[in-house]
Amino acid sequence: MTDLTIGIVGGGQLARMMNEAATPLGLRVRLLAEAPQTAAAQVVPDTTVGDYADAATLSDFAADVTAVTFDHEHVPTGLLAELEASGTPVRPGPTALEFAQDKAAMRARLSALGVPCPAWRVVATPQELADFAAETGWPVIAKTSRGGYDGKGVWKLAGPQEAEAPFAALQHALGPTERDTAADAPADAVIVAEEFIPFTRELSVLVARRPGGEAVAYPVTETVQRDGICHETTTPAPGLDAARAAALEALGRRIADELGVVGILAVELMERPDGEIVVNELAMRPHNTGHWSIEGAVTSQFENHLRAVADLPLGSAALRAPVAVMTNVLGGANPDLVGSLNRVLSDPDVRVHLYGKGVKPGRKVGHITVLGADVDAARRSARAAAAILEGE
Ligand SMILES: Nc1ncnc2c1ncn2[C@@H]1O[C@H](COP(=O)(O)OP(=O)(O)O)[C@@H](O)[C@H]1O
Ligand SMILES: [Mg+2]
Repeated sequence: MTDLTIGIVGGGQLARMMNEAATPLGLRVRLLAEAPQTAAAQVVPDTTVGDYADAATLSDFAADVTAVTFDHEHVPTGLLAELEASGTPVRPGPTALEFAQDKAAMRARLSALGVPCPAWRVVATPQELADFAAETGWPVIAKTSRGGYDGKGVWKLAGPQEAEAPFAALQHALGPTERDTAADAPADAVIVAEEFIPFTRELSVLVARRPGGEAVAYPVTETVQRDGICHETTTPAPGLDAARAAALEALGRRIADELGVVGILAVELMERPDGEIVVNELAMRPHNTGHWSIEGAVTSQFENHLRAVADLPLGSAALRAPVAVMTNVLGGANPDLVGSLNRVLSDPDVRVHLYGKGVKPGRKVGHITVLGADVDAARRSARAAAAILEGE
């Protein structure tokens, strides 16, 4: 009897949704969670609570799994290389993951591949940052190379008087930290300066790729970020012509191939006012801009991630409706999400996903998806449902 067990490191909502996708395929999930009651730990019986940065914890957890994958990108790649060397498939592997963990490495690699990026430079001092900005113009973007997420670790700096800020944050650097609890950069982070792109919108393209190279690309998604957090997505990206969409899907496949990604690769993109598109960053796990695919695609990003990780044939990434809108639910004035379901579900087109997380201001606690034929109508429904849950 074949038994396929996927070991997921990290117990957040992405792992929770992977677990949901594993069930119909009969895949088993084993979880390494940060705490007993995280979003995924609540629903995965085979859960170990432990520190993913501890070599013994990680190797015990991975002992007899089919493959290890991730809910987040913070596991030190050195530990993953040890796991691989001991015979456990790690997907995506550490050499690929480096480009999702380290924005300086990502920029260097993508630039070498000729992939369009903002002008960028690793800067060691506020003066070097100011010198860079004198060339590209203010405002300028500064980022910690490692450890950032949801806009934490990204600064938009108006002028030289603000050039100290990112370096001050590095002073507070910690070792590996938990998501939701710390945004501090790890000790080996550096500051990457980037040309500020006055983008007209942000887009993303997701690709699922198997170890042998088979890949599928999802339709390009338009994404609206608020305070660095994904707020709403629309798929397919409105007004994006077919040739450009195809080119972006091909770009996603090419990056996945060149970097040897296994599982989902999300390529975050910015559209310049002249229509040209540059890459913002890479993620190598199911991505917030792909949550629409649970209802909106023939095969969700979570299922295709697991299929890729288990080296099974991939499913179609085609849309199942003319448009899919996803709105994130952030913690707000309403402490009782489940208590609001009666109102939210009165719209039969609304699909609700709650992550079982306690409500804290601004924390991602769920999302809404609405499929439809009309972008505006789908957005109205999704926003109304999210507003009820957030207690607006
Ligand atoms: N070079 C840039 N120009 C303009 N805006 C940017 C630039 N880089 C990042 N941003 C904005 O900051 C957000 C967060 O940056 P990102 O590098 O994706 O950090 P995170 O790892 O937190 O997602 C982006 O989604 C985008 O809205
Ligand atoms: Mg990002």
